[in-house]
Amino acid sequence: MYETYPAQIRGGGPRPPVKWAGGKFQLIPQFEPLFPQREYGLYVEPFVGGGAVFFHLLPPRAVLIDSNEELINFYLVVRDDLEALLQDLKKHENTAEYYYRIRALEPEQLTPVERASRFLYLNKTGYNGLWRVNSQGKHNVPFGRYKNPKIIDETNLRLVSYALRQAEILCDDFSRVLEYAEPGAFVYLDPPYHPLSETANFTSYTPDAFGEDDQRRLAEVFRELDRRGCLVMLSNSDTSFIRELYKCYDIQVVYAKRAINCRGDKRGPVPELVIRNYS
Ligand SMILES: C[S@@+](CC[C@H](N)C(=O)[O-])C[C@H]1O[C@@H](n2cnc3c(N)ncnc32)[C@H](O)[C@@H]1O
Repeated sequence: MYETYPAQIRGGGPRPPVKWAGGKFQLIPQFEPLFPQREYGLYVEPFVGGGAVFFHLLPPRAVLIDSNEELINFYLVVRDDLEALLQDLKKHENTAEYYYRIRALEPEQLTPVERASRFLYLNKTGYNGLWRVNSQGKHNVPFGRYKNPKIIDETNLRLVSYALRQAEILCDDFSRVLEYAEPGAFVYLDPPYHPLSETANFTSYTPDAFGEDDQRRLAEVFRELDRRGCLVMLSNSDTSFIRELYKCYDIQVVYAKRAINCRGDKRGPVPELVIRNYS
């Protein structure tokens, strides 16, 4: 799958440029045997987040979608205006006073480069790398107090920029994936997880929560992608609701150590499901 990339990327490979709740970086070794073992022309990832799977697979043609506007603006700027971003990132300071000043800015009033720069800065210096917003859509993560956060990882951002040049990048709802559902395409779906309990809630990436109706809507999209001849792989939590939704498909269990986990009592390996329409 890597023929079109320079040796530098094939050798080292980009890493996800942002810390992201629910990021799949640590699960890649367990995913490896579950990815399609045959060629696929197009790769589509409608909940791309930190993009751990995309940056690992480096497909020659990709469509990346997420409903988080800040994240998508960041990817577009890294792809199309990297030098300006690298320049702008130099201005940032790792102090609480500066952090809260940057956090208070209205992203819509910034240029795309300033907006991407703010996004990366808050991600690297905010507590736990969380991207969390309140009901008004305002970023509300406290200052992380890290001694020496690596805000500018230029080598990795260059690799990320190169990888993103293979991709169409869209800010939209996951259902947009159906526009790209060509036979033989590989679609990886990693939605906000169905909560393990009433209090566990990973759904505050955007002001709109992802509830059971969305999970059902997603299961419909999964079935439609299956009907259209796509190879479909989906991650979710191991709950009876999710097992019931996908009972007609192949279900495997993988084990995640969740670093960003609001269930402080549950930091050990947590079983998660990988659901596929192929095996
Ligand atoms: C579990 S995370 C994906 C993590 C990613 N696989 C990684 O490795 O970093 C879920 C993502 O879905 C996005 N999202 C939430 N609701 C969405 C929707 N309706 N349509 C598209 N994306 C959505 C969130 O912004 C978040 O980035």
